[in-house]
Amino acid sequence: MRLFLDTANLEHIRHGVELGVVTGVTTNPSLVSKEGKVDYRSLVKEICAIVPGPVSTEVLSLDADAMVAEAREIITWAENIAVKIPATPQGLKATSILARDGIRVNMTLCFSLNQAMLASEAGAAYVSPFVGRLDDIGEDGMQLVVDIVNYLSYYNRPTQVIAASIRHTAHCLSAAKAGAHIATIPYGVLLQMVAHPLTEIGIKRFADDWNKVMGTAGILP
Ligand code: E4P
Repeated sequence: MRLFLDTANLEHIRHGVELGVVTGVTTNPSLVSKEGKVDYRSLVKEICAIVPGPVSTEVLSLDADAMVAEAREIITWAENIAVKIPATPQGLKATSILARDGIRVNMTLCFSLNQAMLASEAGAAYVSPFVGRLDDIGEDGMQLVVDIVNYLSYYNRPTQVIAASIRHTAHCLSAAKAGAHIATIPYGVLLQMVAHPLTEIGIKRFADDWNKVMGTAGILP
């Protein structure tokens, strides 16, 4: 399962890419707003220059023709952009138009298998089930990921699943076990994934044992 960062924060994206584990980014209007009053185009261009894989960039319009016009503008900002479009009737219409032109669409705000099936039929390259937000209303968000992955694989559909609205490391594990192609995760969750107290304890013990015998001599001459 590939990992994307769900953020518009340049420092966090740089760090994730430096670690060699982050290959894409998803943004949304809320995440961009967290960075203050920025120039959307410049920020997206900077993100695209840092990260190798797709950078999901959301349209703001609600009408299909306006979504298509926004998407056509957005994709001129960089080569590695996927356009994020909500799972609505207008969003499906826009997706089918854009997909015919080979433009990658990430169908976002997906909360049901029905929406995911339609996204795939319309030609979306990615579909993003929002796990945490379903959990928030007492539903089993991860079960939706399982259902979508099974559906797409049974019918051999090319659409990839991005497990989104990830809240904790257990979500990452479950998404991987479910067969999600990608999980888009907050920066904090990425840091939690690598952290383990036994790793810290182990490093200290190795250093203490070495130092007892070798003193402060390192490995390099
Ligand atoms: C996905 O692409 C969205 O940006 C994101 O995962 C939304 O998650 P939230 O529920 O944490 O806002």
